Amino acid sequence: MENQTNVSSPNAASRGGFGSKLGFILATTGSAVGLGNLWMFPYMIGQNGGGLFFLLFLVFTVLFGLPILIGEMNLGRSMQKDVIGAYRDINKKWTFVGVIAVLCPFVIMSYYSVVGGWILKYFFSYITFQDFSGDKSAIFQNFSSSAGEPIVWHLIFLALCVILSCIGIEKGIEKANLIMLPSLFVLIFILAIYCMTLPGAFDGAKFLFVPDFSKFKSGNDIFKILLAAMGQAFFSLSLGQGSIINYGSYLRRKNNIQKDCAMVAGFDIFVAIMAGLVILPACFAFHTPVTSGPGLIFETLPSIFSDIPAGGLIGAVFFLLVFFAAFSSAIALFEVISTMLVDRFKMKRIHAALLVGLALGISGIFNSLSMGNWHSVSIFGMNLFTFSEFVADKLLIPVGTFCLCLFIAYVWKTKNFFSHLQEGASAIYLKKAMSFIYKYAAPVVIFLVFIMGLVSQFQQ
Ligand code: PHE
Repeated sequence: MENQTNVSSPNAASRGGFGSKLGFILATTGSAVGLGNLWMFPYMIGQNGGGLFFLLFLVFTVLFGLPILIGEMNLGRSMQKDVIGAYRDINKKWTFVGVIAVLCPFVIMSYYSVVGGWILKYFFSYITFQDFSGDKSAIFQNFSSSAGEPIVWHLIFLALCVILSCIGIEKGIEKANLIMLPSLFVLIFILAIYCMTLPGAFDGAKFLFVPDFSKFKSGNDIFKILLAAMGQAFFSLSLGQGSIINYGSYLRRKNNIQKDCAMVAGFDIFVAIMAGLVILPACFAFHTPVTSGPGLIFETLPSIFSDIPAGGLIGAVFFLLVFFAAFSSAIALFEVISTMLVDRFKMKRIHAALLVGLALGISGIFNSLSMGNWHSVSIFGMNLFTFSEFVADKLLIPVGTFCLCLFIAYVWKTKNFFSHLQEGASAIYLKKAMSFIYKYAAPVVIFLVFIMGLVSQFQQ
């Protein structure tokens, strides 16, 4: 085992960092709050039967997600390295977990930037007064399945990531988040209140909050939902994907990690619930099927905006804020890969950003095409887009988080872990419970859910 402390590594000093405590919380919240909450959460709820999925999502977030978030942040801060370096410097044999944590953001970004492109397109449509009357689902399907336009928007989204990554972490991300996130919170809260007044809204809220067990005919359904809820909770908190370790590596020692993480998790849950309270009541009010999948927000939101006074303007502002949320998450994902190239291969930041941009540009094009012309190309019965989501959410994230827990408990050792966590904190909360979670509860539960979920997924 090599040096574990590395408090004032010259590397750390030359890497820049977050200017203020608040800036850091906002940036991490910016990484957590993204398409996972606003785009994915509502349609996952819809596809997985409503209330029970929501309940499981909450349980996974609080019981396992939060401790893992704290674990990743603490690992990043104590090592002050890129993700692979953080694992490797504690124990060389565990370098592979770092490699998974870099691979995962790559897979995620290959479809995330496609959806980011859809958001940009909708924002652009609203500011140019495009007509959204008529069948909103058909409008979305026509757009997303075409071979040209979505690819152009995906490339624009990605180009913006490359540019921000070149500007650097402190100036770019911190300043932008300071305005974007609070505005998003306020607007989505107001929209949720509005949507709750729509006719039929109550059924939407009931669907979100009340588990309906009669929907589950077999154990298979339950295991599939368990795996989906776990994937959603971890994805939404950005876990198992290196980004939190990476941000942690820029974190100052005076921050209280436990408190900061609890705030980030709280914001993340809040935005997910608000998104659910906007989209699901709207589905019931405007008769959009809740099961319609990745297009759900693009099919329901325009109905809401056509319904309200100054809807066009509100639509434009809303999509702009969703874009910001998606963008700050995308940057976090992007940074994992480019920081690794900078730290590991001593690449110039600009070269790393261009290289990552190029690779993601190409893989995103395949994913985008799989929504249309290439729809029939299938891997294990899924199109490429769904397959990429599957690989990230249901394979790499569970494996990454499972390994992280074992790593903390048995390789880094909880004693070292807690002594680092102590920095910046007057006390460590729930130390025993956290220890138990890293050592036993989380690895066992993640392992079981992962295996049973996969088996039931392929048993159909
Ligand atoms: N958590 C982000 C979201 O909800 C996605 C993300 C994952 C961002 C991993 C960064 C790292 O959209």
